[in-house]
Amino acid sequence: MRISDDTIQEIKSQIDIIDVIGEFVNLKKSGTNYKALSPFTSEKTPSFFVSPAKDIYKCFSSGKGGDAINFIMEIEGVNYIEALQYLAKKYGIQIRETEETDEDVLVHNERESLFIVLSFAKDYFVRTLLEHPEGKSVGLSYFRERGFDDPTIKKFELGYSLDTWNAFYQEALQQKYQEDVLEKAGLIIRKEDKVYDRFRGRVLFPIHNLTGKTIAFGARILTGEKNQPKYINSPETPVYHKSQILYGIYQGRQAIRQKDNCYLVEGYTDVISMHMAGEENVVASSGTSLTDGQIAMIKRYTNNITVLFDGDEAGIKASLRGIDMILQSGLNVRAVMFPEGEDPDSYARKIGPSGFKEYLKDNTRDFISFKTALFAREAQQDPITKAKTIKEIVASIARIPDGVQRAVYIKETSVLLAIDESVLISELNKILISERQKRKSDAREPDISLIEKTAETTLDRSKSSTESIRLQEKESIRLLINYGLNEIEEEILLYEFILSELEDVEFQTPVYRTIFDTFKENLKKGHVLDADYFLKYGPEEVKKEVVDLVANPYEISVNWQNKRIFVPTEKDLLSRSVFDNIIRLKYRIVSRLIEENIEEIRELKKHDETDHLLKVNMELKKIKSELAKKLGIVVAS
Ligand code: UTP
Ligand code: MN
Repeated sequence: MRISDDTIQEIKSQIDIIDVIGEFVNLKKSGTNYKALSPFTSEKTPSFFVSPAKDIYKCFSSGKGGDAINFIMEIEGVNYIEALQYLAKKYGIQIRETEETDEDVLVHNERESLFIVLSFAKDYFVRTLLEHPEGKSVGLSYFRERGFDDPTIKKFELGYSLDTWNAFYQEALQQKYQEDVLEKAGLIIRKEDKVYDRFRGRVLFPIHNLTGKTIAFGARILTGEKNQPKYINSPETPVYHKSQILYGIYQGRQAIRQKDNCYLVEGYTDVISMHMAGEENVVASSGTSLTDGQIAMIKRYTNNITVLFDGDEAGIKASLRGIDMILQSGLNVRAVMFPEGEDPDSYARKIGPSGFKEYLKDNTRDFISFKTALFAREAQQDPITKAKTIKEIVASIARIPDGVQRAVYIKETSVLLAIDESVLISELNKILISERQKRKSDAREPDISLIEKTAETTLDRSKSSTESIRLQEKESIRLLINYGLNEIEEEILLYEFILSELEDVEFQTPVYRTIFDTFKENLKKGHVLDADYFLKYGPEEVKKEVVDLVANPYEISVNWQNKRIFVPTEKDLLSRSVFDNIIRLKYRIVSRLIEENIEEIRELKKHDETDHLLKVNMELKKIKSELAKKLGIVVAS
């Protein structure tokens, strides 16, 4: 769907950022801004700020920031269009759509018609469960027997399909739904002129997408018939991709964010029973192995996953791959094991809500102690098992992208298994190195993800010089868009000074180059742009950056001081800030040029063509020392 520009403008003009964000967090006024505990992390002191004047928010603990639309995208885990739809609904704005291409119309209409027919089916199955004599006596009494109460049945929109060949199909035809749409939605099956319902005589679990639309069904048999599958599920359709959805994400997403943790279970009934036990931060992979798409979906709400394993060892070992995938995505993973023969649903019913909560609390382990316990159970501490356990655990640790976190886990493993840390590190390095070699031969590209403990490489040096240039560029842009029209010396405005000084400089960081070039372009037409302009009209990546640059200059300078780059923060120090920044930027650039020059000289050594390069080298060094002198003056004063 394409929302018309008019509608977007109308929505934007109606937005009151305090009102929008206030629905999700408890904002307290603080000067001209509002502050609150971050809804994205579980912090104790508020680091979430909203500026009504600038129409932006900034969360310093998660790094997120942007306008009200961006906030809705982040908090609800929805895309841009869905966020606009949310806001349009909130402000009672009628959405007008722009003309779509023929192809757009087709795709759009197909998806829309599938949603409509799936919603009709869901309502029909709910009605059948609650009102039809068979639904009540068979379906509803089954759910009641399992202990599902009415509010829960309603929350999950559970239903029932009659035990006939095509009762649903007949009803759908009567309501004028088209046969081919019903088929495409996976609701009916056509076979040699015969049409029958896919779901017959089963209780239904609708599967919802993030916005609560029904996109598929899981249907459980009620008898113990052995030649029938326990569950029949919708097939893949244009709106249902099994590998991209998690059962319960719609009902659980708020709790997942608030608790900052997501329980991962296997079955539909596990999700529902956990809701009944008061643990609503739960999703199910629906009996299949976890995918990266599903992990990414959870990552919208939390970085912590707790996997709940049914108590059978073979099953657990089969799903250990899931743990490695979660680690590889950079998320933290913990695990809980249930007693033999129990799943979360059966166990929650067995020991009741408070016992279940207690059990989770007492049995949640980080993945190292979990894996250790798992392998230790096999054979009590015999050396071969122990070696296997170590390899297993280190292999998992090797998946973690963050080096610091890897080190923490290595330390923990060393303590837990009473093994020297250096043994573990050498095992880890073996894996990392062999993986790197594999990647290298796959992609014949230099790989810098592994930073060796050996002497600093050229690569590292130039990486750090790129970073220092980026930081100085950032400061130039920050000064330019926040204080451009301030006078820094008699008759000289800050932007004039920056532009004349940096006339020949090409910014190396793409986003700063964009801002700088846009600024220069508009100046030619007589417009001096400021932060507000970029916040309103800039492309997404520019907006995101500018939010950072206007949000809290002090925060920025603190970080910089950690990196030993001196940046005054007060506005009355403006002229000194800008002189200092410009010289530092030049100094960094020259240093970088010298590095590159030396590299070139080194490479050419054998060819005797270095004369010219050596001359350049001397020139550059002269400039560098002049700049250094000036810097000395600036720093000393
Ligand atoms: P389980 O067999 O553990 O079922 O399969 P369950 O969820 O515990 O159901 P109850 O408690 O026996 O009623 C776990 C999940 O695997 C998928 C379903 O999503 C199920 O919830 N599954 C299982 C199927 O898709 N088809 C099947 O035939 C069996
Ligand atoms: Mn079960």
